Amino acid sequence: MNKKLKIAMLPGDGIGPEVMQETYKIIKIIKKKSNLNLKIKKYDIGGIAIEKWGKALPKKTLKGCEKSHAILLGSVGGPKWEYLPSHQRPEVASLLKIRKYFNLFANLRYSILHPKLYKLSPLKKKIADKGFDILCVRELTSGIYFGQPSLEIKKKNKHYAIDTTIYHKNEIKRIAHIAFQEALKRKKKVTSIDKSNVLQTSKLWKKTVNQVSQNYPEVNLSHLYFDNAVMQIIKNPHSFDVILCPNLIGDIISDECGILTGSIGMLSSASLNEKKFGLYEPAGGTAPDIQGKNLANPIAQILSLALLFKHTFKLNTISKKIKLAIQKTLLKGYRTLDISNGKKFITTDQMGNEIIKSLLEEYNNEKNFISKNI
Ligand code: IPM
Ligand code: MN
Repeated sequence: MNKKLKIAMLPGDGIGPEVMQETYKIIKIIKKKSNLNLKIKKYDIGGIAIEKWGKALPKKTLKGCEKSHAILLGSVGGPKWEYLPSHQRPEVASLLKIRKYFNLFANLRYSILHPKLYKLSPLKKKIADKGFDILCVRELTSGIYFGQPSLEIKKKNKHYAIDTTIYHKNEIKRIAHIAFQEALKRKKKVTSIDKSNVLQTSKLWKKTVNQVSQNYPEVNLSHLYFDNAVMQIIKNPHSFDVILCPNLIGDIISDECGILTGSIGMLSSASLNEKKFGLYEPAGGTAPDIQGKNLANPIAQILSLALLFKHTFKLNTISKKIKLAIQKTLLKGYRTLDISNGKKFITTDQMGNEIIKSLLEEYNNEKNFISKNI
């Protein structure tokens, strides 16, 4: 029997369960066609877990994740839980907590625009039709998100709040290594983003990234200030390859890159620790406005599955098949609401079914290729 491959599936809130449903259909096809011993177990996380278990990240969920090889997450949060104090909200109490718990410091977010799909992008044709392929490497378990103290203070006649940005040199080093290693597999270009004209943590960031770069002479490194970077990315996304960012900057830059592909509904991500244990999730959020309407774009979730096959299971051919199937479906002209440009669109489950059709075509092509070449 093949090695058992265990995935903990955490659909979460908002559109999470809908897009996960489509991803599950894809998993079943892959399991059968590639003859894999895949085991999927579902657990609650986020608002739904607060409702059912009184906690955004129940023990049972954590234990289930620990027993698995990878976590496939939907999204967490929503208006229903916004009244809660921030540390109890699903985003903080489950998402940030699970990232920290498994030490998932390396967040890889891919934004890819095929030149033929330039119309999807909000950018002008002459910029978008060159296409782009950007990997944003975001530090995910430190910086201002986790620095202490983080407080709101009310005194007699004073009312203020504090957040703290801390970066230890070793935290910068390890994420920089990831960026350079990924760049070696791509166009060998790293752009590191900081605000080192003002911030101390950014000065240390820049210095450390320069030091780490000495180990990668083949990789071309440049630095941009954050404010300039957001402009340059809009002006010429094609010129970027790997973008390396501290936590908060990466949060913003990755959304920017995502929307340039047409929709953050297509932005997938992998969050990895030193052992390459990973959590895979779309980066677009719960989209409560379209929740339950069968309108969400399942592509980011399905692409996150492709990343899982690549990074955790090291099954790159399967990962590529999924990516090709998505690209092919888009090239055939199928669109969900978010990328429809006011024109005809299909529903979440129809998009899932179209991607399955394209995926089956990929499997058949492979079979024909093998039989032709024997
Ligand atoms: C993301 C999200 C989260 C973040 C929120 C929900 C805490 O925006 O994954 O990008 O800021 O990291
Ligand atoms: Mn974000």
